[in-house]
Amino acid sequence: MHRSRSIYIETYGCQMNMADTEVVLSILRDAGFARVNELNQAGVVLVNTCAIRENAEQRVIGRLGDFHHYKKTNPEIIIGVLGCMVERYRKDLIDSQEFIDIIAGPDEYRKLPALIESARRGEKGIATRLSRSEKYDDIVPLRKAGLSAWIAIMRGCNNFCTYCVVPFTRGRERSRSRSSIIGEVEDIICQGFKEVTLLGQNVNSYRDGSNDFSDLIGMVADVDKNLRVRFMTSHPRDMSDKLIETIASRSNICKYIHLPVQSGSDRILALMKRSYTVEYYLDLIRKIRSVIPEAGLSTDIITGFPTETKDDHKQTIDLLQKVGYDGAYTFIYSPREKTKAWSMTDDVSHEEKNRRLEEIINIQRGISLHRNRSMIGQVTQVLVEGISKRSNSDFCGRTDTNKMVVFPRNGNIAGDYADVRIERANSATLFGTQIHAVC
Ligand code: SAH
Ligand code: SF4
Ligand code: F3S
Repeated sequence: MHRSRSIYIETYGCQMNMADTEVVLSILRDAGFARVNELNQAGVVLVNTCAIRENAEQRVIGRLGDFHHYKKTNPEIIIGVLGCMVERYRKDLIDSQEFIDIIAGPDEYRKLPALIESARRGEKGIATRLSRSEKYDDIVPLRKAGLSAWIAIMRGCNNFCTYCVVPFTRGRERSRSRSSIIGEVEDIICQGFKEVTLLGQNVNSYRDGSNDFSDLIGMVADVDKNLRVRFMTSHPRDMSDKLIETIASRSNICKYIHLPVQSGSDRILALMKRSYTVEYYLDLIRKIRSVIPEAGLSTDIITGFPTETKDDHKQTIDLLQKVGYDGAYTFIYSPREKTKAWSMTDDVSHEEKNRRLEEIINIQRGISLHRNRSMIGQVTQVLVEGISKRSNSDFCGRTDTNKMVVFPRNGNIAGDYADVRIERANSATLFGTQIHAVC
């Protein structure tokens, strides 16, 4: 492969961006490009960016600095910036950073081959329009072989939570057709994938004609009983009884729900425009646990939203304790231009935000430890992912409730299911021994 046709790509941000990178690679492969894993083999360097918080952008900016430096000694390479930061800065990005040759927003990836050609002729390539219809439905993502595949079932978001930049960077919500999703599921099964994660910013508002997300996930699960089906992210407002029952009704739909609550204070939830109350959310958790008692649950929390008081913060801690999540992703509030919260006074000091974050992390660690220890003595089914990072003699894999399990290697291979008796646990990992070992 000639170097000018070689692509090096780095991806930041959420799984939607990971899935988009596979779409980008597919579009470029069809135009005669190929991916390389080393920067020094590439003629085109692409960075798929995230804008969700200031620190996510800073990471990308730091990395772009490295590429700028590299380009000084390799002036022929083309540098392209993709993804969410492109929609935040648009033309300013390319005007202020002259080493960038191409910018392409999330709905403009079909134009990449043409943008690369025009960059080679010395013209800057700029494509930043958001679309109401682009779903990349007909593009088969170029996946690396493995166990687990992502399928983006929708794009964009209409919720406009007041802190969030996603509706501005990804545009309006659009669902893909059910038939194209099922076709992709059949393909990944043929390619040997054992697990699929259906992706969207708000998967449970998926709709295709009369079919909603519970219909879709039921159909995906029915394609092959041996395929594990996961999904993320769910919005609490759209978590219907029908969906909870569908999850319970299929053994291959994973009993794990990521259900971001963001705050335990009704006043802050209203300011965030999350459209539910703590009472509604706790009812939902009770409902989930009564139908799926073993369900793994996780959440996202933002600390230090404008006007958050010590009492609001305490209510968030109370909620964590009431729910007893298996895990939580915690973030310090980061003001984002264009959002509603941008004009609210960011009045919680940085030190206080950090203190609240630390407190939440510590409390959640204790809760996760307690939840994990309650599994000791149980036998759980694990999808083997491969050799454990920490020890060559151990395997690791996940339960369908999304817990990481480490156990001594025992003749099985990645992709096998293993029954493991749990013997000890820390807040992040379960450790055990396989029963009925493969001989
Ligand atoms: N669509 C998903 C999550 C999208 S972003 C949902 O609605 O749940 C992932 C997480 O980042 C959010 O759940 C939120 O906790 C966090 N987040 C989003 N914007 C943020 C901001 N401006 N500052 C801090 N955290 C933010
Ligand atoms: Fe952002 Fe809210 Fe949409 Fe999630 S639901 S992507 S937090 S606006
Ligand atoms: Fe980041 Fe865009 Fe995802 S802002 S979190 S990459 S949708």
